[in-house]
Amino acid sequence: MRRIFVTRGIFSQSAERMKQAGYTVDFGAEWSDTFSKQDLIEQANGAEAIISFLTDSIDGEVLRALSNLSLVANVAAGYDNIDLEVAREKNITVTHVPGILTDTTADLAFGLLLAVARRIPHSERYLQEGRYEGWKLISPLLGSEVTGKTLGIIGMGRIGSAVARRGRLGFNMEVLYHSRTKKPEVEQELDATCCPLSKLLARSDYVSLHTPLTEKTAGLIGEDELKQMSSEAYLINTSRGKIVDEDALISALKEDQIAGAGLDVFQGEPAVDSRLLELQSKVVITPHIGSETREVRKTMVNTAVNDVLKVLRGDEPENPVVDTSA
Ligand code: DGY
Repeated sequence: MRRIFVTRGIFSQSAERMKQAGYTVDFGAEWSDTFSKQDLIEQANGAEAIISFLTDSIDGEVLRALSNLSLVANVAAGYDNIDLEVAREKNITVTHVPGILTDTTADLAFGLLLAVARRIPHSERYLQEGRYEGWKLISPLLGSEVTGKTLGIIGMGRIGSAVARRGRLGFNMEVLYHSRTKKPEVEQELDATCCPLSKLLARSDYVSLHTPLTEKTAGLIGEDELKQMSSEAYLINTSRGKIVDEDALISALKEDQIAGAGLDVFQGEPAVDSRLLELQSKVVITPHIGSETREVRKTMVNTAVNDVLKVLRGDEPENPVVDTSA
């Protein structure tokens, strides 16, 4: 029987759809397990399609080892975990699930922005620890204003635009952006201004990262870039941890070069640098939950399954990865 390998557990209805279409569906690790490359190669052997997640490294070695493979359906918007060059060379289709998690991730980015600026988690801890002794004009919980400030978006794609929309329409923020291409429609809708990275860093009160992780964007925000930001500015990252040089960020926070950071992603996920945790008065950190709502996670899996069924019956996928580096 034709085989589909899913690297870890998915919602049972989605698995059932593939079984009903006549495929054998096998699973790898449980929800929380890590999955070694060797396990992946052994267990996916013979499969025509793999349904993968952003934590699975589908590198050249994996793609070359699986001779029956014709499709990798990544249940993520990003696809930096897949070697696209080898996939192309081996004629393996790669799909992803763009669009679905746009608003959810933008909500989280804005949530982190508000949380770190208004010190919401810090204030809750303060209260929980029994330190609140009454209202004070100037307490240790003084935050920063959001409404009317300047929001700098790096990477004005779907999610970047959705964050800009929240900033402009919800909080009357001035929007600056830096992106691979100019976005006239966003400029018109949100009165956004395209500018060089250095200008955006110097002028923004909040810098939010929405660029995909590529060779060009890895380490995009390092020591030099952080130095260009104001000491009252905040960095928000809901894209990929490796876009920021974490050592440089930790130094910038310790030395008060910037005011704080809201991070949903970090370099060594799932391990968090303990220095970031120690900086809890300036950092709000969440464990890569950008797309983590019941509705969106179900739709992500179903969208990937739709493409698996399409490609395996010889149709074009709805959401092919378009490799712009090709
Ligand atoms: C993605 O899909 O790329 C997101 O990072 C998931 O949260």
